[in-house]
Amino acid sequence: MTPENDKVILAIETSCDDTSASICINGKICSNIVADQEVHRKYGGVVPELASRAHQQNIVPVVDLALKTAGVKIQDLTAVSYTQGPGLLGSLMVGSSFARGISLSRNLPLIGVNHIQAHIMAHFIDEPQPEFPFLCLLVSGGHTQIVSMKSHSEMEVIGTTLDDAAGEAFDKTAKIMGLPYPGGPLIDKYAKDGNPLKFKFPDSRVPELNFSFSGLKTAVMYFLQDAEKEDPDFIVKNLNDICASIQHTIVSYLLRKLKLAVEQTGITNVGLAGGVSANSSLRFNLEQIGKEKSWDTFIPDFQYCTDNAAMIAMAAHYLYEGGNFQSLDAVPFPRYDY
Ligand code: KG4
Ligand code: ZN
Repeated sequence: MTPENDKVILAIETSCDDTSASICINGKICSNIVADQEVHRKYGGVVPELASRAHQQNIVPVVDLALKTAGVKIQDLTAVSYTQGPGLLGSLMVGSSFARGISLSRNLPLIGVNHIQAHIMAHFIDEPQPEFPFLCLLVSGGHTQIVSMKSHSEMEVIGTTLDDAAGEAFDKTAKIMGLPYPGGPLIDKYAKDGNPLKFKFPDSRVPELNFSFSGLKTAVMYFLQDAEKEDPDFIVKNLNDICASIQHTIVSYLLRKLKLAVEQTGITNVGLAGGVSANSSLRFNLEQIGKEKSWDTFIPDFQYCTDNAAMIAMAAHYLYEGGNFQSLDAVPFPRYDY
């Protein structure tokens, strides 16, 4: 049982293929339950219809476990929050409807959270926390952006991908090699025993702080097709080196753009967010650059890099402080311009 004046927020995240629920009490994360969905593996990517059906199966046990782990009952809640988007519509609808149901039945304030902003708010779960202004490279399966944060709620996107996201570049090149979805963690794993300079892949020359990854996927596809004509076992024999070379291309491209963003903005509090920030080479190299250039670098704990409801709860905590509540009549999924 929590004291009456505690702020107890339930957060629900269902934007893609992870069903997650978290309890945050007075800004402290007390539970973070994540159920991932095996069902997509054999399709090489997330199948939206299957994702929303799996969310429907998972949502009750996941929320129940989040409450129990935090030692909280539904009557103790002060507010309910959920991911408003961006994300897959059918998946978002499951979390949104569930949150709205609790809000309506318990007469609790409802807080809609932007998924992208929430990834960045993962930095405010544990210590040390960045000071503002804060520059964050947000790299996930759906987004690749450089975001300048002036406060917990003011964010400006100063660079973005013009086509695929960095996570897609990992996943799609992995798929070309016959690896299951999601390929990012597997490329990271095999790359550990490979030579990152063995094969050279081009990166796209898009101006300023923007990114493009679609060319890399095509380059890897043609390179492997040609190599397999010479040796049908080329991928199996060279898997570690291919993975290391792809990872090196993506990571060095991301960090080159981040360095440019620091030069242009003068902001030296620099961090990573989103699923790809779980990548060991990206994490290691950001820390190295930070030491060389005297940046203060911030990387969330692994569990808060990929999709999770703790980051939604953290964003909701600050929205609650600002009184940013949603009407039950409001459009649940506004269109985001970024
Ligand atoms: O943030 P997230 O869980 O979901 C989205 O909002 O998209 O990010 C998922 C992405 C996937 O593309 C996955 O392959 C990638 O993050 N990812 C990684 C690693 N772990 C997850 N990519 C590279 N290396 C990793 N260790
Ligand atoms: Zn995400």
